[in-house]
Parts: sequence; structure tokens; C-alpha cells
Amino acid sequence: ETVILAYSGGLDTSCILKWLLDQRYEVICVLADVGQKEDFAAAEKKALKIGAKKVIVVDAKQSFVEDYIWPAIQMGLIYEERYLLGTSLARPCISVALMEVARQYDAKYLAHGATGKGNDQVRFELSAYALKPDLKIIAPWRDEEFCRRFQGRQDLIVYAQANGIEVSAKPSTPWSTDANILHISYESGVLENPNTVAPSSLYEMTVDPLVDAPREPVRVVIHFEHGLPTRVEDPVSKCVYRTPLEMLKFLNDVGGSYGIGRIDIVENRYVGLKSRGVYETPGGTILYTAHQDLEVFALDREVLRTKQVLRDRMSDYVYNGFWFSPEAIYAQRCIALAEQRVCGQVTMELAPGYCRAIARRASEADGALYNEQLVSMDVHGGYVPQDAGGFIAINAVRIREHVRAFGPYEMA
Ligand code: ARG
Ligand code: SIN
Repeated sequence: ETVILAYSGGLDTSCILKWLLDQRYEVICVLADVGQKEDFAAAEKKALKIGAKKVIVVDAKQSFVEDYIWPAIQMGLIYEERYLLGTSLARPCISVALMEVARQYDAKYLAHGATGKGNDQVRFELSAYALKPDLKIIAPWRDEEFCRRFQGRQDLIVYAQANGIEVSAKPSTPWSTDANILHISYESGVLENPNTVAPSSLYEMTVDPLVDAPREPVRVVIHFEHGLPTRVEDPVSKCVYRTPLEMLKFLNDVGGSYGIGRIDIVENRYVGLKSRGVYETPGGTILYTAHQDLEVFALDREVLRTKQVLRDRMSDYVYNGFWFSPEAIYAQRCIALAEQRVCGQVTMELAPGYCRAIARRASEADGALYNEQLVSMDVHGGYVPQDAGGFIAINAVRIREHVRAFGPYEMA
């Protein structure tokens, strides 16, 4: 039987590859390039040497940025108010690559190296089932026999060495990493104690904002159409970035150089555990912040409120692995409808450790709810201030009635 293995080149999936071969499966390794820094040629060679029948490297970067990250920015997705979902968004994208190969080679099985305690098993498997409902899953980290044999890293290393699998000479970092073009996440190992401060050597995409970032802030201008970033201008170099991939790469570089987008959080996993994670999302943080500014500027207040309810639901759907689900498709369409009006540009200031919007403008052609005449302190602009008295008086009816019924509020 043929198995598609979601292969990373690391110790775990290399041992899983060998273990699958021991179980007499034929294994096709799929390496999805979602922008992680990886020597794909070396990983391919390694898998072939272990005995993979075929190794397929899929360049999924463009699809990841355009079909997952851009919609996430448009929707304003954020999990538990802090996490920009870098890993969560990559899983359905990688699953598409895996299932395309599965279909091409008529493979019935998918194997992956996600643990039985995490979110990723759920995301990979739900996405894969959505794309190929008759699929069968092999999850070694949930397999009793596999787990008896391999209690942890040390057992994997012994097995690797016994089977001629290269174990990288430099001892790997004492935490687990997941990297792509949107973010790098770090968890487990020394990070498991949430009261232990992450070592400064951990960060790879961002510099220490207080030590290595330039003191002088810089500005970038980000243009949006229908809530999607369409152009990024660097006023200093006069460079203009026009494709999503170019925009994100540029913002990662400049944001990284200012140490923007680091978070250190405890989050709720879908399976019910709490987990401590450290993330760096430089470009994504700049895009999220710029979009949020333009959205409040451009949208009707009540549409914005309704949209944010859907945004919160959608963030949970994505985190929990339901990118391919009726509810996610519904939420994304609804939000995109609201975002039709989010057109314009935002000037962002990038400074050590943070970014903020400092100016914004709506695209002329699309009109704007922001009305300088109407808000001005200097002209009436059609607003009748006397009406505000009645507006307040009617609102006060309920406030007064509460006091009549239950007595006065205690004032401190
Ligand atoms: N906790 C993050 C999520 O569930 C990242 C998970 C993968 N990260 C890792 N270092 N293995 O989306
Ligand atoms: C894993 O458990 O495989 C990584 C972390 C997660 O999926 O939440």
C-alpha cells in the first residue's frame, strides 16, 4: 500500500518514514515549501536514502500567501486576541499539497508526525478528510506500538543511528519549532514551564527590539482594496511591492529588523490542554495592525460589530482545524462582503518592538464614511446638536428607572 508522508526532513518524520517502511508500506514523501528556511534538496536526498519511493517538494508559498494569509488579514483573524494563526493557516494549505499527491498516485493513506496532544493532528486530518473523504490516516504518535517503542527523542536518535539515518550534528534546540513565511512558533521543551523566560537566542525572524533595532522609526504605506493588501510602499528606498509574496517578504524583513511581532502566550488548544507558545510574526503584525485601522475607519459601526463576531468565530474555526468546513466558507464570504468597503491606504510607523498607524486615507473612488465636515468642531456640517439632548434624555429613561426601582448607586 502507498502512504503519503507529510515529511519535514527532521528526526521525527525521518524515523516515521523508516518505521512505515518496516511495516511494509510504500512511502511517498511530500515536503511542502511554505517559506520555511529548509534545505529541500538535502531533505529529499535524506528521504531517498532512508528508502522513500519518491520525494515530492511542492512550492506552496504563493498559494499559502494568497489563499490563506491574505484572507486571514482581510478577515482580521486572531486567536484569543493575540495569536495570528501562522501554523493554523499553513495546515490546510499543506493538506492541499498532500492530497493532490495522494490523488495523483492513488494513495489511500496519509501519515504525519503530529503528536496526539496537539492541534496539528486535528488540522491535518480534518483538512485531509474534507479534500479526500475516503482517506485513511496513520498517526504514529497515536499508535500504541510506535509509542511503546519510542518514548521520546532519545529513542528516536538510537533508532536513527541504528538505521543509518543522519542525525544532525548540532544538538537541536530544546524546544519545538514550526516555521513558515508568516511566522515561527516555538513550544515544548524548556518553554513548557510558563514561568521560564524564553532565551533571547530563540528568536530567528526578529531582532531584540531593545538591543539591536534601529532607534529611528521608519514609515511604510500599505494600500488595501476590499480589505486585501494590494501594494506596500517604502518611502525611504521608494521601492513598491505589488505581489502578496513580495509585500510579506519586505514587511518581514523590515519588521524583523525592528523586532516587531513577538508574543509569548499561553493558549487553549482544541484538545483541551493549555500550551505555552512563543511566536514571531513581523510582517503579519504590521498587516494586521494596518488593516484594523483602515477597517474601523471605513466600515459602518454596526457592520463592524457584526463582522467582529464572525471574525472571532472564524478565528476559532481556523485554529481548531475547520478551514474546509461549511461554517468557515460561510463566515469568510460574509466577512468579504463587509470588506468590500475597506479600500484605502494606511501609513504605518515602525519603531523598536511595535508598529502603529499614524495616518490613513480612503480611496477617493470608493467614498468614505469619515466626514470631516460632520465631525469638525468648527462647522455644524448638517448635524443638529440640540437633537443630542433628546437622544440622551431618552437613553436616561432606563438609567433613571433602574434607580427608581432598586435605589441609588453607591458612589465610592
Ligand atoms: N500552538 C500553535 C498552533 O497550534 C503552533 C503549533 C506548532 N508549533 C510547534 N512549535 N510545533 O497553531
Ligand atoms: C504537535 O503536537 O504535533 C505540535 C503542537 C500542536 O499541534 O498543537
